[in-house]
Amino acid sequence: MANARVWLITGASRGLGRAFAETALAGGDRVVAAARDVEPLEELTEKYPGHLVPLPLDVTDRRAVFDGVERAAAAFGRLDVVVNNAGGMLYGMVEEATEEQIRAHLDVNFFGAVWVAQAVLPHLRAQGGGRLLQVTSMGSGGGMATVGFYGAGKAALDSVSEALAMEVEGFGVKVTVVQMGGYNTGLFTTGTTTTEPLAQYQPLRTEMEAMWGDAVAPEPDTAAPVIMELAALPDPPRRLIVGSQSFDHVLEMGRPERICTGPGSISAVSPRASRVRATTFMQPVPRRADASKAYVRTPEGVEVWPADKKGTGCA
Ligand SMILES: NC(=O)c1ccc[n+]([C@@H]2O[C@H](COP(=O)([O-])OP(=O)(O)OC[C@H]3O[C@@H](n4cnc5c(N)ncnc54)[C@H](OP(=O)(O)O)[C@@H]3O)[C@@H](O)[C@H]2O)c1
Repeated sequence: MANARVWLITGASRGLGRAFAETALAGGDRVVAAARDVEPLEELTEKYPGHLVPLPLDVTDRRAVFDGVERAAAAFGRLDVVVNNAGGMLYGMVEEATEEQIRAHLDVNFFGAVWVAQAVLPHLRAQGGGRLLQVTSMGSGGGMATVGFYGAGKAALDSVSEALAMEVEGFGVKVTVVQMGGYNTGLFTTGTTTTEPLAQYQPLRTEMEAMWGDAVAPEPDTAAPVIMELAALPDPPRRLIVGSQSFDHVLEMGRPERICTGPGSISAVSPRASRVRATTFMQPVPRRADASKAYVRTPEGVEVWPADKKGTGCA
């Protein structure tokens, strides 16, 4: 196929990464699909012979990431779209988390993505360009009880990715931070590490669990077409908000709670914290928006994307 692209997707064995891989393959693209356990990818390898290369890779191992990226680049001779998607969840209160848990979490969700970015950049630069999609979360805009370290890792990745976008633009490499909303994946089961609960936090834990609710989030394949379109856009936005929950949450988090307008003047702008707590943060979708749509942040707020297909002024 003339316009077929080559993708490298980390965390492609299940959930969102797998949905991205399957949709890319169905569209005629070729995919290098990375995960620690690539066995679940066998079925896809058989379905798309010659188009899918499974890559066993633990993104926390920097050396292995550089070696893996070499193999990935050699598999189809180039890399057009790299999706930094591998990730996990650390669930529990800040005080409860052990040093080992915190470091292990950030090793995957932050450092892993950094190693992949560093390893692919020489290839993308040598090719004269490429796409780097950094999968973060609606939770990266502000801290939330029980998922403090998850939000911290994603916020760190957001920040580094924005810097990176500026640094590599001149090489034709376009970086987009993709802030995903909630999707029905293994992130909250297989992908979760849980802290040892302290009794003192039980009332808050119960409150938070009620807030998360047991509503079933949308399936990850509803988000995949947005990612395909994003990767094809000549002038992609620096930041894309995907999904209805993300839409609501990012909008809330993006509003300053207090603003200092001068000496001795800290005025209330938006009662953000109380509103976020009171809103049905994890309620079933769609509410105000559609899980299969994406949104960009503009100076005026959040707009459905692509409003004009330009994607400018959205970072
Ligand atoms: N689902 C949501 O609601 C949601 C919302 C916002 C953002 N996200 C983000 O979306 C991304 C994908 O998550 P998901 O929801 O699809 O979760 P998932 O179903 O648990 O999938 C996670 C993927 O990451 C891989 N992975 C985990 N640790 C890895 C490591 N050390 N090295 C390489 N691969 C690793 C897993 O495979 P192996 O275990 O075999 O390695 C799996 O393929 C994550 O970055 C997550 O934070 C998800």
